[in-house]
Amino acid sequence: MRIGIIGAGQLGQMLGFAARDLGLEVCFLDPSPAPPAASCGPVVQRPFGDPDALADMAESCDVITYEFENVPVAALQTIAGSVPIWPPAAALRHAQDRLDEKQLFEELGVPLPGYRAVDTRADLAAAATELGLPLVVKTRRLGYDGKGQFVVRTGDDVDAAWRSLRGQALIAEQWVPFDFEVSSIGVRDARGNVRIYPLTRNVHRNGILHTSRSPVDAPELAELAAAAMHKLLEHLDYVGVLALELFAIGNQLLANEFAPRVHNSGHWTIEGAVTSQFENHLRAVAGLPLGSIESRGHAGMLNLIGEITAAARELDQGTLHDYGKEPRPGRKLGHITVIAGCAEQRDTLLNKIEQTVT
Ligand SMILES: Nc1ncnc2c1ncn2[C@@H]1O[C@H](COP(=O)(O)OP(=O)(O)O)[C@@H](O)[C@H]1O
Ligand SMILES: [Mg+2]
Repeated sequence: MRIGIIGAGQLGQMLGFAARDLGLEVCFLDPSPAPPAASCGPVVQRPFGDPDALADMAESCDVITYEFENVPVAALQTIAGSVPIWPPAAALRHAQDRLDEKQLFEELGVPLPGYRAVDTRADLAAAATELGLPLVVKTRRLGYDGKGQFVVRTGDDVDAAWRSLRGQALIAEQWVPFDFEVSSIGVRDARGNVRIYPLTRNVHRNGILHTSRSPVDAPELAELAAAAMHKLLEHLDYVGVLALELFAIGNQLLANEFAPRVHNSGHWTIEGAVTSQFENHLRAVAGLPLGSIESRGHAGMLNLIGEITAAARELDQGTLHDYGKEPRPGRKLGHITVIAGCAEQRDTLLNKIEQTVT
């Protein structure tokens, strides 16, 4: 079976490694010249929405999936009649627009922070009055790693926020004084079987994921996250891996956003779960039975951003993943995973590694 993957970044690369172990063939579509996944299979170097490249992919592949959530939906629809595309386009459409995404959470009864659509400066001023401060203004489309966001802390920031983001469709949402952030990674196959990995606790720095730890010792929160995940997967008639980011505050979870793809906060599953998120995504889209999501211990993951130091390469503990990308400030270049017998051991090891590699 041959799987066409739109996007050939590190997520595509890790899907490619999992495909090799399953005996599946992969090919990629990505406009960048030497993407990480090039080591896993042929890459057609064309824009993500290129109709001819998509048509060729549809013809040569048994199923198409994506590792990048800004694939033009209209372009995908031109091939929807000739090849299965998973996850479904509806999931992509909701995830591409923060307003749509929040409306979906509301429709499904998944709790979320208060928000307003913002199209004018007056909308922004009204949102500040109605929602209270601080609030965070975000572009509705194309934001990632905290880009396209502005935190309004006082009334004086409203103008600066407007000047920095005007011209784009925006939303404003309440700043959540969360206790911590978590993500839920779930997978659903075409027959409707659902498996949800143990909850992951995430720390972001400057809007970029810094560390992930799983499992989280909070069964009530895990249950809330699983309930939200089930609603999304079932409502969207979803096939593949879905990641849901949430804020934990008291005994509540508020949904932040979801990604219709494998996710950075699930990288620990490569070493830390019986079946990785990458393998389970491929199993789901290829129509193979899902694998066990059981943990192999207490997992921790540290992102390597901007550079991979010599010390990171010389570690004798943990597993280093180097995506083979050109170093650049703020760029995700790799990650390190550790697995331990208990949470304390895991945290000690992860802290020690963090100090060594930075
Ligand atoms: N409303 C909010 N309240 C508190 N922190 C927030 C809020 N929105 C975003 N953040 C912080 O910024 C990070 C990135 O924002 P997010 O909306 O997930 O955008 P991205 O698409 O860039 O990941 C979040 O993981 C969180 O740490
Ligand atoms: Mg996010």
